[in-house]
Amino acid sequence: MTACIVGWSHGKFGKLDGETSESLIVKAATEAIAHAGIEPKDVDVIYVGNMNGGFVRQEFHSSLALQAHPDLRFKPSTRVENACATGSAAIHMGLNTLAAGKARFVLVVGVEKMTELNSAQAGEVLIKASYVAEEANIEAGFAGIFGKITSAYFQRYGDKSDALAKIAVKAHKNGAKNPYAHFQKEFAYDFCRNPSDKNPFVAGPLKRTDCSPVTDGAAAVILTDVTTALGMKQAIAFRAAEQVNDFLPMSRRDIIKFEGPALAWKKALASARLDLLDLSFVESHDCFTSAELIEYEAMGLAAPGEGERAIHEGWVERDGKLPVNVSGGLKAKGHPVGATGVSMHVMSAMQLSGTAPGALQLPKAKIGGVFNMGGAAVANYVSILEPLR
Ligand code: COA
Repeated sequence: MTACIVGWSHGKFGKLDGETSESLIVKAATEAIAHAGIEPKDVDVIYVGNMNGGFVRQEFHSSLALQAHPDLRFKPSTRVENACATGSAAIHMGLNTLAAGKARFVLVVGVEKMTELNSAQAGEVLIKASYVAEEANIEAGFAGIFGKITSAYFQRYGDKSDALAKIAVKAHKNGAKNPYAHFQKEFAYDFCRNPSDKNPFVAGPLKRTDCSPVTDGAAAVILTDVTTALGMKQAIAFRAAEQVNDFLPMSRRDIIKFEGPALAWKKALASARLDLLDLSFVESHDCFTSAELIEYEAMGLAAPGEGERAIHEGWVERDGKLPVNVSGGLKAKGHPVGATGVSMHVMSAMQLSGTAPGALQLPKAKIGGVFNMGGAAVANYVSILEPLR
C-alpha cells in the first residue's frame, strides 16, 4: 500500500447544457478539496485528465484547475491523456508523484465535454483512438471498432446477442439507482434484444443499447501518502495499481483475447495477493456490452468463449458472487472519456466508505476492483482498492 484516496467528488453525468469543461473542472476540484478537509493551498500537484481531440475548441486544460481557487496559482498542473483510460492515467501520474516524494496532496480531475458535437461528429473524434493508419476508415466511429471485435467474437464462439442484451439490462437496472448517472431508468430485455426504430443497429451486431452514450461530466480525487491518510477523515487505499499497454494495431493481436486487460488483472491481483473472488465488486470498462462480456474472460471470471455464463448465471448481478458495474457502468452512467477512470475510482471509494447514495450502496463492500481501458484493449489499468482502516 503506497497511497490513498482521501477526498472525492462526482458531478451528475449527462448532456450538461450550459456547462463547459472549465466549469466542470472548477466544481469537481472545489468539491474534492472540501471533501478531503484540506485547503486549496495544501494541494502540491495537479493532474487534469482530458482527452478532447476536438470535442471542444479549448485544448490546453491544465491551468483551468487553477480557476477553482486563487491559492492554486503557481501549483504545477499537467494535462494527461491516454484515450478512454485518461482518468486512470491521471491517477497513476498522481500515484507516481507521491511515490517519488514530490507531493503530499495531489488533486486529480477527470473531465470531458462531449455533447457540443452530435454523435456522428463525436465518433469522428473517438476514432482517433484507433490505429488510424489501418483502422479509421470504418463507419460509426469507435462503435465500428467494437462492431468488428464483436463480429469476430461471434464468429469464433457463436452469437451472444442474448448475453449482450442482458448486460445492457443489468447496467440500466443498476444505473437507475445512481443519481449521478446519465440514464436513470430501467430498459426492458426485449427492447435491448430486438432492433427497432428506437434501438437501431449502430455497428455490426451492436445496437444502440449496446453502446455507452456521448456524455459530459467530471469527477475528482485527492491523493496522499498512507502516513498522512491515517490522520484524514476518510481514506481508501490502493492495494494495487497496474498499467499494461499493448500494441495499438489490432492486426498485431488476437483482438478478442484482450491479452493486455488479462495481464493487467493478473499483475494487480498478484501484487494485492488476492483472488478475483476476494473482491466485493468490480467497476469494469463497458464502453460496449461486448467489451464487458470479453472482460469477464480477461479478469478470469470465465474461460475464453464462456463469458456469457457470468451474466446468464447471475454472477455479475448486484447480488451475485462478483457484482460488476453496480454504478450502471459506462453504459448507463455515461462515458465522458477523460472523466471515466476517475469516476470509476470515486464510485468505488463511495462503496468502500459506505457513503454511496441511497440504494446504490452495496450491503458488503470490503475490497473493490477497477478496470479502465483506453482504445481497443490498448491502455489497460487495474486498481484494487480497500479502506485503509
Ligand atoms: N444507449 C441507450 N440510449 C441511447 C444511447 C445509448 N448509448 N445514446 C442515445 N440514446 C437515446 C437518447 O437518450 C435518445 O432518447 P430519446 O429519443 O428518448 O430522447 C435517443 O437514444 C436518440 O439519441 P441520439 O443521441 O440521437 O442517438 P444517436 O443514434 O445519435 O447516438 C450512439 C447513439 C450509440 C451512436 C452514440 O451514443 C454513440 O456513438 N455511442 C458510442 C460512443 C463511443 O464510442 N464512446 C467511446 C467508446 S470507447
